[in-house]
Amino acid sequence: MTDLFSKFDPLIQQRETLLATGVTDPYNLVMEKVISPTVAICNGRETILLGTYNYMGMTFDEDVIAAGKDALDKFGSGTTGSRVLNGTYQGHKECEEALKEFYAMDHAMVFSTGYQANLGIISTIAGKGDYVILDIDSHASIYDGCAMGNAEIVAFRHNDVEALEKRLKRLPPEAGKLVVLEGVYSMLGDVAPLKEMIRVSKENGAMVLVDEAHSMGFIGENGRGVAEAQGVIDDVDFIIGTFSKSVGTVGGFCVSNHPKFEILRLVCRPYVFTASLPPSVVATAATSIRKLMQGSNKRAHLWENSKVLHKGLRDLGFTLGTDEPQSAIIAVIMPDLEQGAMMWEALLEEGLYVNLARPPATPANMTLLRCSLCAEHTIEQVSEILGRFERAGKRIGIIG
Ligand SMILES: Cc1ncc(COP(=O)(O)O)c(C=O)c1O
Repeated sequence: MTDLFSKFDPLIQQRETLLATGVTDPYNLVMEKVISPTVAICNGRETILLGTYNYMGMTFDEDVIAAGKDALDKFGSGTTGSRVLNGTYQGHKECEEALKEFYAMDHAMVFSTGYQANLGIISTIAGKGDYVILDIDSHASIYDGCAMGNAEIVAFRHNDVEALEKRLKRLPPEAGKLVVLEGVYSMLGDVAPLKEMIRVSKENGAMVLVDEAHSMGFIGENGRGVAEAQGVIDDVDFIIGTFSKSVGTVGGFCVSNHPKFEILRLVCRPYVFTASLPPSVVATAATSIRKLMQGSNKRAHLWENSKVLHKGLRDLGFTLGTDEPQSAIIAVIMPDLEQGAMMWEALLEEGLYVNLARPPATPANMTLLRCSLCAEHTIEQVSEILGRFERAGKRIGIIG
């Protein structure tokens, strides 16, 4: 018998070598108690959270929690069914209404996760014989959606408008084409030049899908994302998003003005063949989305946090993923995985949690300490974070 697990041997070996150095397993951390969107107890220690996707700090919002509790009481703990059978409750429709209002779009479809939204929409609209043209640094859910739909995948260099245009021009003019972009790329926290990319996509007859997972709620005047900030939201055919970041719960969605959009509810397998979100989740999501429409003060504070942290880390001598702060994500580039893991652990001992990101999730084989800020981080917490980075960085020898 061939052991089907033998393909994982190199990864098992790499992991064992790393753990043999005595470093804490960075992928096995337990949040023993969560006190607020920015503070938790980890390993018995009060820890500032700088590695969540809780950008707008909605997880402990009073109205959001009350809506969830109320729905739990009135509708029970789960739907036990698909959206197309017994799994569409009033709350799912209300959540879709909130999304339509939030984006000012005609249609909204709620999925059980953002992963499934990408999987479902991409695989359903781009099938055999069609082309998906995507940024090489696209999220795994985008690649998996392409694989599931059997479309031809054409990747182009990250954020390179010319490369996108060249690829598009080489494709048969009559072929179906979907250009898939992200507003904010989550590893380095950099923003896409959507305006130019959408222009060349349209000039070459392609439809455009933008995943705004890391920009919803924060970027753009109304928090609609990078396409709104760059003034091109009306040219986007499909926006994908998630409830697991700024919205503060779990779930995914697609919004669109396409007149035939509703047919997707019958043909999109990751929508049809899975149970719908629990009533408490859609109630919290709908409440959160409606509150995010009024989130301009929080957005301004989050930008302030991002600027202060970016400048502070750069002044300390860390190498960052972007020259300027472009989003709520600030990536600190580590020399290698071993030093990255040591730095991650040193920060945890200081009482600071960040994400350790490593290949294959990261571009160019980089090891990153990804810091993601929250609108609920106070400016005092941000300066505390900088102090902890300085002490840990000097201890590990990453900065002088
Ligand atoms: C760009 C992007 N799209 C989609 C997703 C999937 O979102 P979810 O957590 O809702 O499955 C993520 C999650 O990290 C993401 O970064």
